[in-house]
Amino acid sequence: MQLTVSQDMESFQEALGELAMDGKTVALVPTMGALHAGHIALVKEAKELADVVAVSIFVNPKQFGPNEDFLRYPRTLERDLQLLDEAGVTLVYTPTVEDLYPEGFSTIVSAGPIGAMLEGTFRTGFFDGVATVVTKLLLRTLPQVAVFGEKDYQQLCVIRRIVRDLDIAVEIFGAETVRESDGLALSSRNAYLSAQQRSIAPKLFETLEAVADDLISEEVSKDEALAKGIDRLTEFGFRVDYLELRKEDTLEALETLDTEARLLVAAWLGNTRLIDNIGIGVE
Ligand code: PAF
Repeated sequence: MQLTVSQDMESFQEALGELAMDGKTVALVPTMGALHAGHIALVKEAKELADVVAVSIFVNPKQFGPNEDFLRYPRTLERDLQLLDEAGVTLVYTPTVEDLYPEGFSTIVSAGPIGAMLEGTFRTGFFDGVATVVTKLLLRTLPQVAVFGEKDYQQLCVIRRIVRDLDIAVEIFGAETVRESDGLALSSRNAYLSAQQRSIAPKLFETLEAVADDLISEEVSKDEALAKGIDRLTEFGFRVDYLELRKEDTLEALETLDTEARLLVAAWLGNTRLIDNIGIGVE
């Protein structure tokens, strides 16, 4: 099927309507563009889950703080469209800010407590921005399934919460993080790293694995394991925002490993903020 690109809601929904008339199920992959192999992996998952894949590309101003990188966020539309075409995507929605947030737009979807912790502590309003745009994209598309990466683990939890709370009839699928061969999670923001920072960046995942091993071995307390992880990252040159052990679904604080857990980290290398996470199962 040929790739259809829609810039406005009317033509996007017209194309979706035609697919529905043909009895096709749709998987939506929301993105902010600057696509890399991690996004293409989401598309591959999406293809397994529905007849056709729709991808949205929108750098959402509502999820960037005043001092964040909205203006310098990488925008590579032509290349993105080529990659999506090659990956077998049917429909791409590239709305403008005016299309998604027309004049007078004033409703914000609050991500609630799950959006106020961890990333929310350091990026005020970030998850309300994500919640608002994802809700709109889901309601405009009404897909059977939507695919998000586990790389942004808290985002995935926030979106699952919204969909449950607002009765949006869509299945949310979390796809495993794609990593470089040295363990660094793929991210559009990796492009900001200097060569020297890039050589240090894999230590983030390496440290998550080391802390997970410490926690599982129970040779040290939870607090000791986390403190050791923060010291290790600091020695490598990271400035750590948080390294936390949380319940895997609600992200509530966790003292012992008696339930499925996630270890989540956010740390700076120079001016670039990296996040990552790892699942820890119970035996
Ligand atoms: O993960 C992202 O790229 C964005 O936060 C999303 C989900 C597309 C919403 O803008």
